[in-house]
Amino acid sequence: MAPPRGFVFDAYGTLFDVHSVIEAGREITQDPQTLSLTWRQKQLEYTWLRALMGRYEDFWHVTEAALRFAVRRLGIAATEAQLKRLMEAYLSLAAFPEVKPALERLKGSPLAILSNGSPKMLEAAVRSSGLGPYLQHVLSVDAVKTYKPSPAVYALGPKALGVPAGDLLFVSSNAWDVAGAKAAGYRVCWCNRQKAPMEELGFAPDLTVERLDQIPL
Ligand code: 2OP
Repeated sequence: MAPPRGFVFDAYGTLFDVHSVIEAGREITQDPQTLSLTWRQKQLEYTWLRALMGRYEDFWHVTEAALRFAVRRLGIAATEAQLKRLMEAYLSLAAFPEVKPALERLKGSPLAILSNGSPKMLEAAVRSSGLGPYLQHVLSVDAVKTYKPSPAVYALGPKALGVPAGDLLFVSSNAWDVAGAKAAGYRVCWCNRQKAPMEELGFAPDLTVERLDQIPL
């Protein structure tokens, strides 16, 4: 099979470690891990529910709504200032350690982000992580006012890069996102950081790695 003519990366969970906000969570709970996991799961649930309802709000709005749910669900008393600090932490998530070297290694090809993140969130995270110089495109679902795994979202990649999905490699750590991109016609690499089982959604990745620097050139 010919090498991909471009690479399209999911952002949260793939390039950026969403659980790097755990430090900020330590300020309001003894169990920041549970807060982070509850927050992330609810954030994704709200994207799927709003997409199905046809009631889009951007990922910043949804992320804040999910945080408010998570603290109530976990019985955590948090001030508005503390919630604001947690949200701000989302704008400067850490990139996983191998990301920069991995993008450096792939930089001969066009590289893009395709993410649920709002333009503001992605711009901030790309800036704070220093990944800007490696990326030709930073694509947000906001352009089509719905969420992954809608085909309308994945269509943004071929449109921006001018390359058919079948000649692009889509890379995500989120197994449901892997299935969505495969269903939309991409070649897909699953970066299975958590050694999780693949979803039963009828679409499997073309290759699986545990770190982005293992992507074959
Ligand atoms: C992203 O689209 C799936 O939240 C993940 O960046």
